[in-house]
Amino acid sequence: MSDTPPPVLVTRRLAPGVIERLTARYAVTCRDTDVQMDRAELLDAVRGRRAVLTTLNDRVDAEFLEAAGPQLEIVANHAVGFHNIDLAACAERGVHVTNTPGVLTTATAETTWALLLAATRRLGEGERLLRSGTPWTWGPNFLLGLELAGTPLGVLGMGRIGQAVARRARAFDMPVSYHNRRELPPEQAEGAEWKPLEELLATSTVLVVTCPCTEETRHLLDARRLAMLPRGAVVVSMTAGVVDEEALAAALESGALFAAAVDNFEHEPDVPATLLAQERAVLVPHLGSATVRTRQAMGGLAVDNIVAVLGGGEPLTPVKA
Ligand code: DGY
Repeated sequence: MSDTPPPVLVTRRLAPGVIERLTARYAVTCRDTDVQMDRAELLDAVRGRRAVLTTLNDRVDAEFLEAAGPQLEIVANHAVGFHNIDLAACAERGVHVTNTPGVLTTATAETTWALLLAATRRLGEGERLLRSGTPWTWGPNFLLGLELAGTPLGVLGMGRIGQAVARRARAFDMPVSYHNRRELPPEQAEGAEWKPLEELLATSTVLVVTCPCTEETRHLLDARRLAMLPRGAVVVSMTAGVVDEEALAAALESGALFAAAVDNFEHEPDVPATLLAQERAVLVPHLGSATVRTRQAMGGLAVDNIVAVLGGGEPLTPVKA
């Protein structure tokens, strides 16, 4: 690397068409593989940059900021989440942090429904059975699932994604309730009824978890709270850390839950062996926002934030400490 590196570092290959929006304006170093940098590579690569486009896999902390140097102006995270970033350390050094809210709502809501359907109708089990070559025949009791029409759906976390999930429930004739710290105005509630947390758990045959993982919500759904769900309930977890994964595996193992689906894991890429052992768990590798259109929009928003800040303006979607 020369003494004055290009001002912008992009730590991962971006979706088609995104990087050109940056390279049209700035000299950019962009990782040209889909493999993430290890820590040493990252700390070396950030040195001297004015802007870094990061992903959830890149830890941005005091060490990162120190390695980058005082000229760093912005860390643009290619995600709505920002648990990889020490916001206080960035604020202390006057480094802007941005995320990509809004643009991944539709894709994530659609993935939520894909997982909900896969879990309730046992699609993973069925597919594994066929691929294993196990003999099978149709039968009145073969791989019976849970029918959705009339089945109560609970949404824990009625933010943008929760609301989009609730809106789509109308197509399945599912009555929807939700829990947020505060009740939403009717125009945002999508016809869903607010309930206190414990009442939501007691009345949700299908529970979708879309609230962000914070100090308050970490392992909110532990063994005790999972046990409040009706027997035979289904849990669909779209946020790492809110559902205790070991407790979820135990609830499946005991038969208390009918099925579960998980998209984000607490210690990615690791998935607990206890969960992998559950036939009734649909487990996918963090695919919530994984569509070309959405990844282009996420990358585009991260780029727009960099262009705004390097151009002397304010970031479009700042994250504050
Ligand atoms: C995010 O943006 O936080 C998602 O987890 C990525 O899909």
